[in-house]
Amino acid sequence: MQTITTITELRHALAESRKTDRCVGFVPTMGYLHDGHLALLRESRIRCHVTVASIFVNPTQFGPTEDLSTYPRDFLRDETLCSAAGVDILFTPDAGEIYPAHFTTFVEPGELARPLCGAFRPGQFRGVATVVCKLFNIMQPDFAFFGQKDFQQCAVVRSMSADLDFPIEIVTVPTVREPDGLAMSSRNKYLTSDERKRALAISRALFTAEAAFRAGEREAKRLTDTARRHLTELDQLQYLELVDPDSLEPATSPLGRRTVLCVAAYIGSTRLIDNVILT
Ligand code: PAJ
Repeated sequence: MQTITTITELRHALAESRKTDRCVGFVPTMGYLHDGHLALLRESRIRCHVTVASIFVNPTQFGPTEDLSTYPRDFLRDETLCSAAGVDILFTPDAGEIYPAHFTTFVEPGELARPLCGAFRPGQFRGVATVVCKLFNIMQPDFAFFGQKDFQQCAVVRSMSADLDFPIEIVTVPTVREPDGLAMSSRNKYLTSDERKRALAISRALFTAEAAFRAGEREAKRLTDTARRHLTELDQLQYLELVDPDSLEPATSPLGRRTVLCVAAYIGSTRLIDNVILT
């Protein structure tokens, strides 16, 4: 595995692969890797000849009062995990490489960035769309892999990629969970043992609604009420919403063929998100 920190070197390394027409897969991350990230790397290895992973804690997607400075980092461990996962190139630029002085151009996502997390973390998806757009231009991959755990991020990236004509296939990989159901997240590290127990309410709520849907329930309000009953122990429920998976607009009853139930909540000072697709 080559670890590369500059755009020039990365382009040089990838030019060799392109000469021989090898298919390049790209997995962007902010590091502190867990099995969810590793599932994306595995999927890239299955589909592509060359897998590039990036680790970059992107400052533009954090709000001024958010956890940019405390975001968990363990570069040596991440590097070992990437190498063991068969990554060919690991790109770990510093902030100045991606956002040099006088950087002024941003990608402004449209309607898909407004509801759900967009309503609580203004600017987050502008930062995500901008950095992913830049990374797509730098890597020019054939495939890029994103986790379903960040459902709205997948939707925003897909539409940015289509709108800006990137010839890249965006692949969404299912959410990887801890054995007890909690969706894996780098931010789970922030949870105390009591909070970790209480955090389980999130996946439990989603699975209960999913079971009700499987049993035939198609009324949006009854499904969200069923889920909400599990969420009383959370410190702040930001949203619990059934939405259309393409438009992210509120789903109407009776529910159609595919709906996604999305949740965001604080446990203590840690904000977690999760979702299930009801289909
Ligand atoms: P990060 O939170 O590190 O996540 C990197 C990728 O891993 C994202 O596509 C995310 O959806 C996926 N992922 C996280 N937890 C997962 C899980 N439990 N199961 C499956 N996939 C999971 O998302 C970001 O970084 C950033 O916003 C980024 C796209 C890198 C842009 O800065």
